[in-house]
Amino acid sequence: MESGQSGSIVSDVASVTGIVLAAMSKTEDPRLKEILGALVVHGHAFLKQVKLTDEEFEQGLDFLRRVGLTCNDSHNEVVLLADVLGMSTLVKVLNNSMNDEHSGGALLGPFFRGGSPHYALGASIVQDDAPGAPIFVSGQVLDIRQQPIPNAKVDVWQASPVGLYENQDPDQPEMNLRGHFFTDARGEFRFRSVRPAGYPVPTHGPVGDLLRAQHRHPYRPAHLHFVVIAEGCTTLISQIFADDAEYLDSDVVFGVTRDLVGKFERHEAGTGPRAEQTVPYYTLHCRFVLAEGVPTHPTPPIK
Ligand code: BEZ
Ligand code: FE
Repeated sequence: MESGQSGSIVSDVASVTGIVLAAMSKTEDPRLKEILGALVVHGHAFLKQVKLTDEEFEQGLDFLRRVGLTCNDSHNEVVLLADVLGMSTLVKVLNNSMNDEHSGGALLGPFFRGGSPHYALGASIVQDDAPGAPIFVSGQVLDIRQQPIPNAKVDVWQASPVGLYENQDPDQPEMNLRGHFFTDARGEFRFRSVRPAGYPVPTHGPVGDLLRAQHRHPYRPAHLHFVVIAEGCTTLISQIFADDAEYLDSDVVFGVTRDLVGKFERHEAGTGPRAEQTVPYYTLHCRFVLAEGVPTHPTPPIK
């Protein structure tokens, strides 16, 4: 036996966790050491608590293998799994204390794409002529002193009125219902779109099997996604939900917090702030207050 190996010989259940921690003890990066150490401690405690059988362990590993195999350039099953287990929301809430100073964050979701088209303020992000109720979105980006932030990048994406993102739907043009804007001197932005519908998260993969086994519906309430990036500020990832949306109180990915519910105000044709409209339409105003910090650029989960 080579010297130093005897410390890794397992004698009983109780010895395993300590042996693994010792094997990882030379990790130089202190944060990596902390995170993986806690993962081993809690992961082992979980296995002991449920007394996982060999068959269940194999099933679990096969589930994760299938999660990986279900991913491709336009679908990210790993993100979806973290979402339906409430992990993405927990991380968001942990890192965005729900205080009054700045806006709380929301999960990014699996449909964020980089390279959305840049539009002038007031432009429409709709690139097709599919029917849908018009929605006029306006908003303001502020710092924690309530001062407007000019030139903030506001990236927006949404599902269509039939509840599909452009990359899920061969009938929609590339980058339909996606775009980015830069705020004006008053920190304001505005654009036109069509009201999104709520939609089921993809259920063709192992995450769908999991939801069915748990008798859970797969729906998200109608919403718009935003990423707001400004110099000197922490990047804000947000979603704004329609206050009248179905599934508002049973989002399959637990993404709804009170401050993320927006007032989708309905106006009859010929009335309200856009009286030139000949069909009923909606208006929505959003207010994003950014914390001080260093901006980051979220990695798109799909291409
Ligand atoms: C979304 O809002 O795009 C989303 C978030 C989590 C899972 C699926 C979709
Ligand atoms: Fe979404």
